[in-house]
Amino acid sequence: MCATSRLAPRKDGKIACDYTWLTDNMFTGSGARCGSRFAKQQSLTSVQRDLLNTILEAGQVMRRCALAAAAVRRTLCLLLGLLGAAAPGQAAGFNFASLQSLLSRQDIESVEELIAALPAAQRSRYALVFESRSLQGASLENPRVILYGADARFIVTYNGSPAQRGFRVVETMEFDDDSKEFRLRELLFPERAAGVDKVVVSELNPARCARCHGAPARPVWDTFPLWPGAYGERYRARLSARERTGLSAFLALQPTHPRYGQLLGAKRFADPQTFRSSALTQYAGIPEEPPNAELAIDLGRLQAQSIARQLVRQPAFDLYRYALLGLADNACGRLADFYPEALWRTQRHGLERFARDTAATNARQAQLKAARAASSGGAAVAADGGTSGNALVQLRFVAESALGISTQNWTLALEKGTYDFTMPPLPAQPLRETLLAEVAARDAAVRDLSLYRTSSDGDRYCSYLKRRSRAALAPAEDGAQGVIAPDPASPLGRAGGAATTGALANAPAAASITRPAALQLCVSCHETGVAPQLPFSDPTQLTRQLRVRPSAHGTLIEEIRFRLSAAAGAQHMPLGLNLSDADRESLEAYFAALAASSN
Ligand code: HEC
Ligand code: HEC
Repeated sequence: MCATSRLAPRKDGKIACDYTWLTDNMFTGSGARCGSRFAKQQSLTSVQRDLLNTILEAGQVMRRCALAAAAVRRTLCLLLGLLGAAAPGQAAGFNFASLQSLLSRQDIESVEELIAALPAAQRSRYALVFESRSLQGASLENPRVILYGADARFIVTYNGSPAQRGFRVVETMEFDDDSKEFRLRELLFPERAAGVDKVVVSELNPARCARCHGAPARPVWDTFPLWPGAYGERYRARLSARERTGLSAFLALQPTHPRYGQLLGAKRFADPQTFRSSALTQYAGIPEEPPNAELAIDLGRLQAQSIARQLVRQPAFDLYRYALLGLADNACGRLADFYPEALWRTQRHGLERFARDTAATNARQAQLKAARAASSGGAAVAADGGTSGNALVQLRFVAESALGISTQNWTLALEKGTYDFTMPPLPAQPLRETLLAEVAARDAAVRDLSLYRTSSDGDRYCSYLKRRSRAALAPAEDGAQGVIAPDPASPLGRAGGAATTGALANAPAAASITRPAALQLCVSCHETGVAPQLPFSDPTQLTRQLRVRPSAHGTLIEEIRFRLSAAAGAQHMPLGLNLSDADRESLEAYFAALAASSN
């Protein structure tokens, strides 16, 4: 249970609602996968927990308490209060708060003044985008600038010509170290400086950003080794003729340009070695990467932290942590070794199908990307672009099938639902490092083994992870059902593991339809006594009710369609929260698919 006292903000600004103890009731919403181990009492307070998760995940709190039913209102407002109290202790470094104090202290009224006032570090590392798919226009001569500072924890973007869309707008992205979430904001500057108008700062993660950056927000930056439309678009390749002409036009205007003039070290872009690091620097072991790759590596690191946090927040993380860690860098081999025999038998085919689907989506994405690169004037590149895209496929399979989280948003590519995680060879794989820290916090042996990992000792690290994983997932001594084939109704329901667990031997088609993550919100109120009972976590029952249950607007499916639409006004669902378009659409599609399913 998530008793109020456990939610108290801690000194460090985190919210002390830790997952070990959340484990108790997260599973109850989807009966099939919980062994008796998890079947504990449910209480109203699970609503607090779910809403808290949502709020943290969305990074965005809707101030619509007033609309909520009384019980719900108390909960939401309580959470708002707590979140407010838990002001995150920002790590040192230039961040959004610093930028805001610049704005007020220095009376900044234009984009130009703002850029000039940024610290040198923020102005010395940047990528230049000459063909942007964002809200800010770009051209060869007037590219979109992405200032990513020392480590991309705070990013500022702008462009250079009044003719471009988004010319008066500065976009920012900040990585919040406490929540491991990205925060987007937009600053709209007035038409004329020195007027009465002031810069308008958007709310946190505005809906218009979510369209491309998702909710929770994520960075968007093409993946290795190709960034079509950003100078240096091919990793360590010669610039194309078009890039060369474009860059020299930009560099000619840069020193005297009111905005670009503030960029430090623009010469870096004039040096061909920047994009093709010389044999000398490579030989000397100087880790110089071209700007696009630098940004990709930095964003990849932060995204890895954010993904690790998503995993750790799941109630099933404790059981699957050894498997997840072992699969994070592909050095420990196959999933089969992490699962007890019986469990593996139920999952094998699911994994095969999953890997096939992933490969197909990634091939499609690689093709589109290659086409973009070709159309921006460069030479064509091989469609697979050197992708080792399936690197995380086993880990993603466990995340989806066992932890019930969608991995669609993990990519840095604009195309959601693709899974290219290619990184250049790095000394440490960021996702593995972050998971290692999480697992080692509770099992020091893991840290020691990972440090002294050598090939000569038969890799005790991997063997240890495998042994611990199988033990954690094996049936418990007390005769309680062990784990627990991963949730058949999870996003991976399509993998069909369900058919093998006894109780679900006749798994109906409805149960095999992928469940969108946002469905958990509906469960959190409608299966806890807070709202009218509706069986959102039971696809079979829900399907029946969708078709026959009478409601104000027809049957339940029609009622839900209405409640999800803007037309519902104060009756809009989920009560008190605004879904992103993508989440709403995934819910609509899910309910429609159930209503049309075979049972
Ligand atoms: C139409 C899609 C789209 C929308 C909407 C959008 N962006 Fe982006 N954004 C992109 C793309 C694509 C990139 C990668 C660079 C490029 O192509 O310009 C990007 C890059 C960024 C970056 C640089 C860091 C990164 O993720 O690569 C920031 C900061 C950013 N966007 C902020 C915002 C903010 C703030 C909003 C909302 C006001 C927003 N974006 C809305 C598509 C979008
Ligand atoms: C914060 C709590 C909360 C959440 C989250 C929530 N609901 Fe509700 N819902 C309510 C309450 C309270 C009512 C009853 C008041 C009303 O009818 O507006 C209700 C009523 C409904 C009704 C009408 C029931 C009927 O038979 O007349 C539907 C349909 C519904 N919700 C669907 C959903 C869906 C779909 C979701 C998930 C996207 C969802 N709700 C999320 C609290 C919630």
